[in-house]
Amino acid sequence: MIIPGSSSVTLSRHLASELNMGIVPVEITRFPDDECYVRLHSEIPPKVILIQTTHPDRNILELFLIQNAAREAGARHITTVIPYYGYGRQDKKFQEGESISARKLAHLIQQDSDLVITIDPHKPVLDTFFDIPILMPSAISVIAHFFNDKKIDIVLAPDRGALQRAQDTAALLNSGYDYLDKKRLSGDKVIMEPKTLDVKGKNVLVIDDIISTGGTMALAIHNLKKQGAKAVYAACSHGLFIGQAVTKIKAAGCTQLISTDTLESPHSHVSVAPVIAEALHSYSP
Ligand code: R5P
Repeated sequence: MIIPGSSSVTLSRHLASELNMGIVPVEITRFPDDECYVRLHSEIPPKVILIQTTHPDRNILELFLIQNAAREAGARHITTVIPYYGYGRQDKKFQEGESISARKLAHLIQQDSDLVITIDPHKPVLDTFFDIPILMPSAISVIAHFFNDKKIDIVLAPDRGALQRAQDTAALLNSGYDYLDKKRLSGDKVIMEPKTLDVKGKNVLVIDDIISTGGTMALAIHNLKKQGAKAVYAACSHGLFIGQAVTKIKAAGCTQLISTDTLESPHSHVSVAPVIAEALHSYSP
């Protein structure tokens, strides 16, 4: 059976239908002081799949309480699916005195997990933080599938580090690929080095793992439109869409913005349920 966390109710429904499984009714409420209360309202089989994104913070505690409730109710094998691994960016100490949040969270999650699945983590090194099996499938296949009929000529990564993702997507779409030269100045300030690309009159897809403040994507789209691109689509695995992110991206001239349902939003036009189902099917302990 699948136990849905409150961050992933729709995704849980999709996964349940992919895997032909039932959904455990879960009661999740808050006390007046905002402490979380969790209760599972059915018998729990020995093997369960729990789905919860670790963003924002309140979902993290909720995840731990659901894991605990499942164990207390007799679950012997818990697969914890973390569609978007919040706190996944700090994988080392950049400066003395910092915490390594991605690793700390891994240690807490695995206390009540037997298998972990997370989609497109920001840092591939994430698996080294777990002492239990972890699968990290990519959403690229389902994102590329969405763009199959859009006649994409070229797939672009917003920076060189993300080139592999653009290349893999391009391979599925039979299109070209390239990258832009992004430089991050601060958490919400990015610049793009001038770079001439062969995009005039073309349909372009810009793909990134995360859209947060939307600064990166808006700048990329602005750049491509200036160079004469016909249509510029924007896609990401994880749409955080902080503040005015969507407005900025639309104002830059985006033809269509899509994300997956690792973070559920009005832009979640693609579900990662088949990706999770496939990872589970091909996993042999
Ligand atoms: C950075 O390494 C990531 O891949 C994204 O490019 C970044 O998180 C996007 O952030 P923002 O939307 O705030 O520009």
